[in-house]
Amino acid sequence: MSGSCGAQLMVKVFSGLVGFQLYFLNRSFILEIKRKRKMRIRNKYRKPTTFPCNAGSRCSMSTVVWSLVGFLLMLHIYSLASHRDGASGEVQLRKSPHLLFRELEEVEEENIQIPPPRGKRSPRAAKRRPKRTTTLIDEFLDENSQLRHVFFPDMKTAIDPVKDNGNDSFYYYPGRIWLDTEGAPIQSHGGGMLYDQRSRTYYWYGEYKDGPTYHAHKKGPARVDVIGVSCYSSKDLWTWKNEGIVLAAEETNETHDLHKSNVLERPKVIYNENTGKYVMWMHMDDCNYTKAAVGVAISDYPTGPFDYLYSKRPHGFDSRDMTIFKDDDGVAYLIYSTDDNSDLHIGPLTADYLDVTDVVRRILVGQHREAPALFKFEGTYYMVTSGCSGWAPNEAIIHAAESIMGPWEIMGNPCIGGNKIFRLTTFFAQSTYVIPVPGLPGSFIFMADRWNPADLRDSRYVWLPLIVGGPADRPLEYNFGFPLWSRVSIYWHKKWRLPPRWSF
Ligand code: GAL
Repeated sequence: MSGSCGAQLMVKVFSGLVGFQLYFLNRSFILEIKRKRKMRIRNKYRKPTTFPCNAGSRCSMSTVVWSLVGFLLMLHIYSLASHRDGASGEVQLRKSPHLLFRELEEVEEENIQIPPPRGKRSPRAAKRRPKRTTTLIDEFLDENSQLRHVFFPDMKTAIDPVKDNGNDSFYYYPGRIWLDTEGAPIQSHGGGMLYDQRSRTYYWYGEYKDGPTYHAHKKGPARVDVIGVSCYSSKDLWTWKNEGIVLAAEETNETHDLHKSNVLERPKVIYNENTGKYVMWMHMDDCNYTKAAVGVAISDYPTGPFDYLYSKRPHGFDSRDMTIFKDDDGVAYLIYSTDDNSDLHIGPLTADYLDVTDVVRRILVGQHREAPALFKFEGTYYMVTSGCSGWAPNEAIIHAAESIMGPWEIMGNPCIGGNKIFRLTTFFAQSTYVIPVPGLPGSFIFMADRWNPADLRDSRYVWLPLIVGGPADRPLEYNFGFPLWSRVSIYWHKKWRLPPRWSF
């Protein structure tokens, strides 16, 4: 802990300690005098129960007991106070020790006015009071909303890293169209990032959704036929070259997992040092989401082509939103929403990363979470998840664990800034991946999708700085004030960039 917040806490704790010490000593002293007076009155000849302590001084049993009670109370109050700092709603923000990231920790507010209802209301409608007021979420979901440009800015504002951007170079604009080096909008939804040590290049894999959106059934979710998994490469995490479709859909064979009528979502790729293979895991499904399986593909190169191996229900369970996480020791894990999305499962992969093992744990039981994105900092595992509301946005939650297999604790909503609705909708987006920023410990990029269910190909990317630091929001279940895990904060910014000197 550092800076003014740390100092304040120390002063608070110290004055608390002194205050309680004085209070309890004073109280035991008064009680002792009263007691002695009573004893003297009752029995002049009987000695009070005392025992020697502190060479020469004498203190009574009650003093010791009261001091002990005081000490325990102090410990408890300190434990509560250290949590209340964060739980009061006004999140106590601790500045990152890394100066380069300070400006990204500024809280940026958004003040978006909801427009008055469109057009003239009929006299009948005018007489009737509306059942409820329109919210920003309604506006977001209404493709004809006058605020459409706020959530889905048009092509004129697209980020084009290839043109001369002057002072705007390297700036992320969450929600704007983002062009690749050929000037086409990046198509990499529900994606994941691989940093390839060998080529010192970032590879961004995702769902290539550049097709028409339709509903397979009246009540089915909006969908785009599978086209394949896209791959984009970059050295600076801003300028992206399209490496093409690295795993393509199957056009004719209807029984094939990759047939275009199915669902392929959330592809993630990791590299296996032992086999020298790039391994892709993804959510494989049919158009009704009843297959609920994972698929595995493999390649010798990060840019593919990937060979599709098989799909399965991992550990025999239904599996929908998923991710994979490779730990520092080389062990990789599969994490997936299961039991009809009410729980998550986590389990290690085999050494070649091509299958799951028999080991699996049920986590976040009954919490109905999906879109998991894992990362690790200073030995602690963190995971962002979303609620389950299809393409509609909802509140993100951050979870933490000492051991990747659990138990996993809930640490609350990590979103900061924007406005209340922004924070309750993960800035109108859904988690997909968290990228560590090399050279800046505790700093990450939160990758999320702003889905556009009316036209899925036009879904946008919301990338924001994620910082680990400061006291956690709420008391954790398994502790007595410890471990004091750090808060995870995702800061809203209309525009932001990585510090110029991050190492890439
Ligand atoms: C979401 C999920 C997306 C996609 C969508 C379909 O809950 O996170 O990946 O499956 O549902 O409605």
